[in-house]
Order: sequence, then structure tokens, then C-alpha cells
Amino acid sequence: MKSWEAGWQDAFEQAFRLCCVAPGEPVAVLAESLSRPVNVALAEAALQRLGARPVRVTLPSPRPTAPVPVRSTGASRAIAGHPGALAAIGACSFLVDLTVEGVLHAPELPAILGGGTRVLMVSNEHPETLERLVPLEGDDAPVKAAVKRLRAARRMRVSSAAGTALDIAIEGAPVAGVWGWTDRPGTVAHWPGGVVVAFPRAGTVNGRLVLDAGDVNLSFKRYLERPVVLTIEDDHVTRIEGEGADAAMMRRHLEAWGDPLAYAVSHVGWGMNPRARYEALLFHDRSDTNGTELRAVAGNFLFSTGANEFAGRHTEGHFDIPVFNTTIELDGEAVVREGRLVA
Ligand SMILES: [Fe+2]
Repeated sequence: MKSWEAGWQDAFEQAFRLCCVAPGEPVAVLAESLSRPVNVALAEAALQRLGARPVRVTLPSPRPTAPVPVRSTGASRAIAGHPGALAAIGACSFLVDLTVEGVLHAPELPAILGGGTRVLMVSNEHPETLERLVPLEGDDAPVKAAVKRLRAARRMRVSSAAGTALDIAIEGAPVAGVWGWTDRPGTVAHWPGGVVVAFPRAGTVNGRLVLDAGDVNLSFKRYLERPVVLTIEDDHVTRIEGEGADAAMMRRHLEAWGDPLAYAVSHVGWGMNPRARYEALLFHDRSDTNGTELRAVAGNFLFSTGANEFAGRHTEGHFDIPVFNTTIELDGEAVVREGRLVA
């Protein structure tokens, strides 16, 4: 029986080609015991087709340490400083990250990048999603332009008909853009890509964020059925108002961490991938999606809670919440208007 589709392998090859994987290049394929086996196999087969030399590094999936299930944070604990794994990765110029959570915010990542390895985090998605959202040449230009614009901005304001009025003094905030591949030593990207985010400095986020029915909490992988109103003071969610399950789950989950930093603002930005679909969560079981597609839907406001190392805040709790139908202004100029990217 066939274990994968030809199109899935083509997608992996295409992503790696954009990462400039070269014949003979040593490539580490990082996995853990709970990684999606088909994606590990696809990565290795695609690397071999390109003439690269993959070596698989597989770690046992870490035991949970958090009081609640941790999902979709991008902060893998799988490496846990393992010297053997780090030596193998360090000996390779390209790392394909197939850990469940991904190493985007893993503590080991700065050292890995510092050694010059480029890292492609393959989101833990069904390969059908990866194929549909395979990066294409030209995806980079709009994201790079958005990064430039966000870096130059002093103030971000987010508003919506639902009642959002959020003010962020964005000046000096580190900014990152992801278009789905990396071809430069010492840089990281993720697939699917198509987002630009900033990590606001301490003491810069205030206002009200209304999560309307239809917005998405990606830790719960669920479209909200009723609105939830977040009051944000001095970077922290200080009030969670709303009736019903969505508000209750958010309150209970954040409370379970027993950590004020779980209520803090992590990153803010917007989605830019024209092929990412709003309704995508419905087409796979929860265990078959990591929801990266929803983060990238063009014109969303991507808000998140939890760790922000640039503001000196570290916690494992992390909500990524794409908010739709907002207007995002940088210094008074809209980059997203009523949920649509401004050209
Ligand atoms: Fe996030």
C-alpha cells in the first residue's frame, strides 16, 4: 500500500529547493517519538531526491510539566539541551525541524542559529495542508516589505466594529517576518509561512481587544461561538469578560498556569498568506492540524499571550489568537482595513 502521495513529496522538495538545499549538503532531520511519521519520511525522501545527505535525530517526546495540555506554542522542549543532538545539528548547515511543537521558541534555537545552521520548522500539519500551502517564489517580497514598514513604525492601533481599541507603542520592538523558507545561514522560517509579527517592549500595550464570534483560539483549535472581551493594561490581560464556554475556557486555562506572565502579551502582527484559508480548521481532526494556516490568513490581526523574551517575560503558556475584521494602523496609516490587507 502506498504510504504517501506524490504531491506531498513534491511539496517537500519545493520547500527545500527554496531553502537552497544543495547536493551533498549535510542536513539534520529533527524528530521526536510523537512526530508525524509521514512527514519525517517525506522530508528524508525529498532531501535524498535533491542529493542532500540527511541524518535523522530522534529524541523521546518530553514528559509534560505544565498543569494543562500544551498545544501549538512553537516552544519545543524535545532537545532539552541534549549534547548529542546539538552536536549533530551543529554539524549540519540545514535543519528540518519536525518536532511536535517546533523549535521556533526553543531555548536551544539561538545557539543553533549562532552556529550558522538555517532552520526550517515544518509545522505539525497533515501533509495535505503543507502541499496546499507550499511556499512559492515571490511569497517573500510582500512579507519583507511589511517587516520594513513595521520596523519603522512608532505606534500600532487596532480597531474593529466589534469594539476593539488597542494601542501599542511599537517603536523599537523586534520584528520578524516569515514567508515559508530560509536560504540564509543562521536564520529560521516556518512552513506554512505568511506572517509578520512584533514583540512589543515592556509597558507598551493597552486597551481593549474584542474576540468576536468566529475568531479563533489556536490552543483550543476552536472558532469562538460567543464574544470574549479582553481588557489589557500595561501588557497584561486584566479582565476576561463574556458569557459561555469560550470565555470560561480562556479564564480557566490562563488561571491554571498560576503564573501572571501567562496573561501577558507575547507578539502582535498580521497574516499575509493569500492561500491560507479561514475555514481550514474544519477539514482535519484536531490532532491532524497545528493551526499554522489560521495564523497566516491574509488580513487577520494575530494576537498572542504568554512569553515575550524581548520584554523579559518567560512562560510556557501561549495563546495564538487570529482576530478577523479588524483595522490595523501604523502611525495612522492602515495596513489592514476591516480584515483585508491594504495593497
Ligand atoms: Fe505565537
